[in-house]
Amino acid sequence: LPPPPPGPLTSNGTKLVYDRNHPWKPLRKGDIRGPCPGLNTLASHGYLPRDGVASPSQIITAVQEGFNMDSGLARFVTYGAHLVDGNLVTDLLSIGGKTKKTGKDAPPPAIIGGLNTHRVFEGDSSMTRGDDFFGDNHSFNQTLFDQFVEYSNRFGGGSYNITVAAELRHRRIQESIASNPEFDFTSPRFFTAFAESTFPYAFFVDGRISNRTSAALDMTNATLFFRDSKFPRDFWRPPAPTGAIGIIEIFSAYPIAPGRNVGAVNTYTPDPTSADFGNFCLLYTNFVNNTVKSLYPDPKGVLRRNLILNLRYFYGGIAGGGCEEIFPYGQI
Ligand code: HEM
Ligand code: MG
Repeated sequence: LPPPPPGPLTSNGTKLVYDRNHPWKPLRKGDIRGPCPGLNTLASHGYLPRDGVASPSQIITAVQEGFNMDSGLARFVTYGAHLVDGNLVTDLLSIGGKTKKTGKDAPPPAIIGGLNTHRVFEGDSSMTRGDDFFGDNHSFNQTLFDQFVEYSNRFGGGSYNITVAAELRHRRIQESIASNPEFDFTSPRFFTAFAESTFPYAFFVDGRISNRTSAALDMTNATLFFRDSKFPRDFWRPPAPTGAIGIIEIFSAYPIAPGRNVGAVNTYTPDPTSADFGNFCLLYTNFVNNTVKSLYPDPKGVLRRNLILNLRYFYGGIAGGGCEEIFPYGQI
């Protein structure tokens, strides 16, 4: 049985996380990394299995322990990713590309392709990774990182802060509209894009700096996280459990409706069926009823049981948020 998720940290203050027990190590042949600099870094320091294949429980433990991610957010994001990208029978998820290490696949249309899988979770207009349309949605992209640095210089005095986050988020969306005929900015990508724009100042800044909304990430340390999957020397995690702080400010600087280009560049068309910030519960219901259901239309046996359990753990991340729980595969 997939075990219930680990609870919140009992000791949840800042502490040294680049410690003796978590040395950075270079990749060995076959080790997997992907589009998430947070998980890549945790794997390269041994907070996650260094091969880049982990269970949801291991991921939740690691993001809480290493980055003090809020436990509700950690659950919601981890089970969301696992439901669409992971192997629900073996309880294993690749943090990058598809691999035999996650075990025998369920039949198609299930993908079980790891976090690199486009559209179900990974999406367009990432800050340091290219759009899937251009051929690589997961590797560190130096050209995009140069733009990250340029924006940090222009709007943040050389560091990435909330002001830079708003400007760069807008810039990446405009770039994708103008260059990617398949640009898709509907839910869940609509939410993950704004959330991830907060993560560099929310999580990658040393925890001994206590004012997190004014936190700023310098470019030396940004390079370590985004490119090298490496904590800065003597790195301490945030001082309290942390989520996507400032996400509404970033969205509000340049509000946009969820939508997509419809087969050509500069054809961005709003999609009123997509969830947005005014209708958060629709993120949950559409993800379950559309995305998960399309991958698993008619599961049987252990697969169905594990879908039910993982959907319950997923909902647990937002329980208390006022959304009604749904049971597309019934209840056990
Ligand atoms: C991006 C998964 C936790 C930082 C991503 C992406 C995925 C992902 C699939 C790619 C989305 C895209 O840009 O297209 C996860 C999962 C997590 C997790 C399953 C489990 C809780 C974290 C944590 C941090 C983090 C704890 C920071 C410490 C980031 C950042 C990006 C990102 C900054 C954007 C990269 C960019 O735009 O270039 N994550 N993530 N993530 N993640 Fe995570
Ligand atoms: Mg992406």
